[in-house]
This record gives sequence, C-alpha cells and structure tokens, in this order.
Amino acid sequence: VIQQFDQSATSLQGYESFMIKEIRESWGAVKDTISGLMEDSANLGKAVKALDKARRILIVAAGTSYHAGLIFATRLLRAGKTVIPIIASEHDTVKSGQDDVVLVISQSGETMDSLLALKDYKAQGSFIISLTNTLGNSISSYSNVSLHTRAGPEIGVAATKTFTSQVGALLLMSSLLLGENLDYLKEAENVVSSSFSKSIGYAEKIGIEISRKQSVYYLSKGIGVPMAMEGALKIKEIAYIHSEAYPAGESKHGPIALVERDFPVIFINTGEHVEELRNNLKEMESRKARAYVISAGVEIKSDTEVKEILVNVSDQRLAPLALAPPLQLIAYYAAKERGTNPDRPRNLAKTVTVR
Ligand code: G6P
Repeated sequence: VIQQFDQSATSLQGYESFMIKEIRESWGAVKDTISGLMEDSANLGKAVKALDKARRILIVAAGTSYHAGLIFATRLLRAGKTVIPIIASEHDTVKSGQDDVVLVISQSGETMDSLLALKDYKAQGSFIISLTNTLGNSISSYSNVSLHTRAGPEIGVAATKTFTSQVGALLLMSSLLLGENLDYLKEAENVVSSSFSKSIGYAEKIGIEISRKQSVYYLSKGIGVPMAMEGALKIKEIAYIHSEAYPAGESKHGPIALVERDFPVIFINTGEHVEELRNNLKEMESRKARAYVISAGVEIKSDTEVKEILVNVSDQRLAPLALAPPLQLIAYYAAKERGTNPDRPRNLAKTVTVR
C-alpha cells in the first residue's frame, strides 16, 4: 500500500482549526478508504476469510476506535456471529484461543493499550487483523493481516475523519462477511457530505446551547448507541462538558433521576426502533428536559415542540456515517463557544504510548 500525502494535510489552509478542516475532509476520506480497501483485495479477502472462519471475533480498541468497533460488533452480533468487543486496557478480562480472530482497530497504530492486547492475544495463538490509518506502525507490523483506512494525517487530537473512515471500512468488511450487496456503499461519500451541509446549522445551535450546561445525555438505540457514545466522548474531550451516553431504554433505570427542567438530552435516531425512541423522548420531555433529535433517514416526529433534524441516507445501513458529522460538529461548536482550542484539548494526547 502506498499512501502519499501532500502538504495540505498538515497545514491549516485557511481553516480556523484542524478539527473543522478534518471534519470537512471526512467524506473524501470515507470514499478513499472504501476504494483503497477494495483495491487491496488480497488483504481484504484474507481478513474476511479469517473472520468468517473464526470461532469468536474479538474486537480490541481504545477511545473513538472502540466505538467504531462497536458498530461492527452490533452488525455481526445481529447476524448471529460471536463477537466480543474489548476495551484494550481491559483485555485481561477475555482470554483468546487459536480459533479466535482478533481485530485491532487503531487510528495511530501505536496506542500502547491496544498493542499490548495484540501481543497477548497473539501469544495465545489468535490470528490478528489490524485496521490502522498509518503505514509501518507497530500494530500493523505485529498483525497477520494489516488493513488501512485512508483518511490521511489527522492533526486534531479528537478523532474525526479517521472515525468516519473506520466506520466506512467496517461497514464494507461486515457487508462482505454477511454476503450483502455492496452497492449501497457507493453513496457513502454523498451521505456524509450532505449530512454535513444539512446539519451544520442545527449542530452549531445545539453546540452553543449546551456550551452553557454542566452535563448532557446522548441517547439512542441499537447501532446508534456507539454513535451516542462517540458523541458523548467528543463533547467531553474538547468542550470539557460532562456527558454520558445510554441506550435510551436504559435511561429510565437511573440516569433519568438527574433530568430536570432544561437538562440537555440529544437523541440519536438511526431509523430503527423509532416508536420506542419516541416514547423515551416523551419521558424526557415530560420532565421538561431540553431535547434535541438528530435522525438519519427516518424521523421520530414527536408531537411536542422538540426540534428534529433529518439527514438523508440512501440506505439505513449508512446511518452511522451520516450521524458522524453532526455529532462532531456539536462538540466543535460547543468548544468554540467556550473558547477552548478544539485541536489541543487539555490532558489528552493524540497517541497514548503509555499504559
Ligand atoms: C487517545 C486519543 C483518542 C483516541 C484513542 C485511541 O486517547 O485521545 O482520541 O480515540 O487514543 O487512539 P487510536 O490511535 O488507537 O485509535
């Protein structure tokens, strides 16, 4: 695989921050990732064959990469595969075996927690596949098959275009595993770019409103839950606002205790279980929460005043891709409003090479 980047990837090119520049690069990154993987068909084929034969698929990652892994896991679990998503630093809780395949997902390919997990699982005899965004990194060098996203260098500490690219790559891999027709992926680039344009105004409004809040909930269902987790992580990372993500149905078993007048709750709707989400939304509104709804493909259509934005998807499987830009933009605008630097959040490093 040969990747060449021009200098534009590492300079601001007139943008206010790398984060906004890199969110704007995400649809091109998804397109390049999907086409690049298809061109690398020998490696992709090896990976899919190994995953298909695996007794269990163990997914290992940290931070944002873990959320991309959860989307992959959800799709495969629903199809009856045995998949265990594992936070890299917690990999001691799951032992692997010779019949297991481990998929390590890491933007940098250098995260120490993920690398240590890989080495342990390799020593336990498992076949290792990695998905990274750089060439010649440590994680890919220890892998039996190394696959790559093609997002180009990401300078902002918070992962944006690399996450969207991982989701694109994992949609492709899961579709191959499940024997699905791949035509729907042709619209991936359009779906991400049109979602960006459609949602930027609403995302800015939400970001500004929640920038004054202490805490925010992100609620969803099914494959939207990892997206909610990613939205909540982004707002913590760069706007320093406490946030939690929950499956919407679970929110009544505890989290709702915190909800009072004007407590912000962002609903992420991937178009599945819409009726249940509508009920959860009503529960929040009856407690006078300040609810927002971001829907992909299918509206919740609450009978209350809540504002809902609908981003289009040509196929519901693309919903996670469509939801990435608004969630990233909300965090970006919240950080901007609070006057914090979205590219260099305090206490965080782009690549964590310590345990
Ligand atoms: C750091 C970054 C996160 C990132 C995580 C995993 O903690 O601050 O944004 O998601 O590492 O990074 P990786 O390079 O393994 O995807």
